[in-house]
Amino acid sequence: MAVERTLSIIKPDATRRNLTGKVNAKFEDAGLRIVAQKRVQLTKAQAEGFYAVHAARPFFGSLVDFMISGPVVVQVLEGEGAVLKNRDVMGATNPANAAEGTIRKEFAESIEANSVHGSDSAENAAIEIAYFFAQTEIVG
Ligand code: TYD
Repeated sequence: MAVERTLSIIKPDATRRNLTGKVNAKFEDAGLRIVAQKRVQLTKAQAEGFYAVHAARPFFGSLVDFMISGPVVVQVLEGEGAVLKNRDVMGATNPANAAEGTIRKEFAESIEANSVHGSDSAENAAIEIAYFFAQTEIVG
């Protein structure tokens, strides 16, 4: 399987509860390498732009407000099949449906405050990584 990169965000519910290290341990234990990472306070415009694909959904306004409710940690994860591997480690969007051992099962508070974002395809990963990182900030 090819080595890939994917965009991860540790969301405000997790940074608020000081779970960054525990989330990162899940990534590293799964064989994902954190090749870029920064803690940022998203602006409303940044959050709206990032989730633009969901702009017409009823949860959009609440999701944007949540994403700017505190700092996030944006990351690039690298590894074999990183996009799917990260989705596996994250677990289902709704923590009620997430498998044992996944980040969302262990840490998520709700379908909205679900602790992590991960790109859903290699194509979107490239777009999402470029949204937050310059190539020079990614050190493999
Ligand atoms: P989505 O892309 O469907 O899920 P995932 O993050 O697993 O790729 O949705 C994006 C985010 O939108 C999701 O992480 C949390 C939020 N969301 C809600 O708040 N309510 C909802 O009903 C859905 C489907 C998503």
